[in-house]
Amino acid sequence: MSERGLSENAKSEIRRLMAQFPQRQSALLGALFVAQNEVGFLTPDALADIAVVMGLPASEVTSVASFYHLLFFRPVGRHVVQVCTNLSCMLNGCGRILDHLRRQLGVEVGETTSDGAFTLKTAECLAACESAPAMLVGTERFGPLTPGMVDEVLSRYRRATRSMT
Ligand code: FES
Repeated sequence: MSERGLSENAKSEIRRLMAQFPQRQSALLGALFVAQNEVGFLTPDALADIAVVMGLPASEVTSVASFYHLLFFRPVGRHVVQVCTNLSCMLNGCGRILDHLRRQLGVEVGETTSDGAFTLKTAECLAACESAPAMLVGTERFGPLTPGMVDEVLSRYRRATRSMT
């Protein structure tokens, strides 16, 4: 494996995914998650490895990756908190939720806490408009949020992080 490219195991997993579909492009999203799970985020080397293994243009791999808010091009914390700032959430107080998260985590949007536990981001619509204001932590969705609920969610993830270490 190059410093931030894919291991032979990850490449094999991508080939296994490709074999499940008549068109190799259908395996691309899965391949991107294989890479992210192994490297931690999508490095240029990891993206290049995917393109080679799948026989796809690097531009196609990168453009698909850039479409999904659960795929990251920079290092992130163990848990990525994404607050929706789209219309329904904005009208229902996402600014207050975001301010609360900034204070509780001690970071600005785009930053990671010093212990590496949380990265704070904003996101476009999370398809939870009926639960606005909403946020994702990892792949888990929460809303309608109050500052108190945010505190509960953060505590739960902090406990889970401690039990993993
Ligand atoms: S606008 Fe926030 S979830 Fe749809």
